[in-house]
Amino acid sequence: MKVLVVGSGGREHALCWAIAKSPKCKRLYAAPGNPGMAQIAECVPIEADNLDAIVAFVLAEKIQFVVVGPEGPLVNGLIDMLDDAGIKAFGPTERAAALEGSKGFMKDLCARFDIPTAEYRRFDEPDAAKEYIFLHHAPIVVKADGLASGKGVFICRNENEAHAAIDHIMTEQAFGEAAGNEVVIEELLVGEEASFFALVDGEHAIALVAAQDHKTAFDGDEGPNTGGMGAYTPAPIIDKKMTETIMEQIIRPTVKGMVAEGRPFKGVLFAGLMITEQGPKLIEYNVRFGDPECQVMMMRLKSDMLEALLACTEGRIDEIELNWHDDAALLVVMASEGYPGDYQKGSIIRNIEIAENIKNVTIFHAGTKRENGHMVAHGGRVLGIAALASSVKTAHDKAYRAVKMIDWPEGFNRTDIGWRAIDRKD
Ligand code: AMP
Ligand code: GLY
Repeated sequence: MKVLVVGSGGREHALCWAIAKSPKCKRLYAAPGNPGMAQIAECVPIEADNLDAIVAFVLAEKIQFVVVGPEGPLVNGLIDMLDDAGIKAFGPTERAAALEGSKGFMKDLCARFDIPTAEYRRFDEPDAAKEYIFLHHAPIVVKADGLASGKGVFICRNENEAHAAIDHIMTEQAFGEAAGNEVVIEELLVGEEASFFALVDGEHAIALVAAQDHKTAFDGDEGPNTGGMGAYTPAPIIDKKMTETIMEQIIRPTVKGMVAEGRPFKGVLFAGLMITEQGPKLIEYNVRFGDPECQVMMMRLKSDMLEALLACTEGRIDEIELNWHDDAALLVVMASEGYPGDYQKGSIIRNIEIAENIKNVTIFHAGTKRENGHMVAHGGRVLGIAALASSVKTAHDKAYRAVKMIDWPEGFNRTDIGWRAIDRKD
């Protein structure tokens, strides 16, 4: 079949990489794709948020299946448009994507269906929000409702910080007018964070392997929050028993709740979890794969990914059993100096092919561009260097061996990806 992957990041490169291996995939396209994806797919110059152009291309090329990577087009209704055009597409409808698009909606759903999450309140008035903080005390978390590229979350150690965060979101409208109309204030959860994924077909859900991300820019979990600087799977804290607890307490009630709401969820449900002393609690839902979690998950997947995504779309995910390598996969993000703040574009990156020659090393492209015969940096997160090996520690060593081979003075990376699993004492 003819398949289109929408997006241009490392996550979409990994999705293409996995889908291209399927015997069912006869022709693979990416919109807009990137130079890494261009090695395995035909890239078409249509941006992921140009929904009309995507639908027109799909119809003109007679594409039979569309896989949408990023949240933007999902929250804006690309799946609904493709459904209306009679095209099979993997991902939630606009109404179901509200699980990610609106923190308020997600929190209300948790309250109604008894899904463990941080205690919270929504406010549309800064003074009322401040009053609540006065009564509940810091540390406390202040969040903007709506999509704020992961930057709309403030962990406030004291009341002053909390007031500043409220002013930033509501009065200064730092995340735009819509996101500034409301704040969510919630209890600070304490524990270990993990990324949990389930494929959901509207009614049934199957767990994928769990992963752990590294959100901050610098070693030791210091510095500003980013989209994610590295990931690995398996996550030792999510063993078989914990997986079942998460499915029972969080995922299945959500799937049922979405049906009851008249917004059945199809696609990948990505639960950002805090594993607390009282058990797993939901921090947030995303309605897409994680980036860079997807890359390490695809490294470990032995089964046919296209088959699984199709089954999910067709309401028969319960027929699928996924097989995974026992090995661990770990990925190190190489980013442009300055990311997540301002950074320069256009610096030359050398030796990618040499690093890629190491057995069981795969390099996923994100913000790269081919220019005058060179690979150059064209974004914040630029490359993901991933390795598959017998343990998180050996995968870490192998991935960093490959990182060292890449000649890119204008880039940087964390040197401690995987520390939580490697240092763990069981
Ligand atoms: P988000 O943009 O919602 O993914 O939040 C970004 C990060 O903020 C999360 O990955 C957590 O590390 C942290 N965070 C968000 N909410 C809470 C909470 N209630 N308690 C503790 N940490 C949180
Ligand atoms: N790596 C976290 C995310 O994709 O949101």
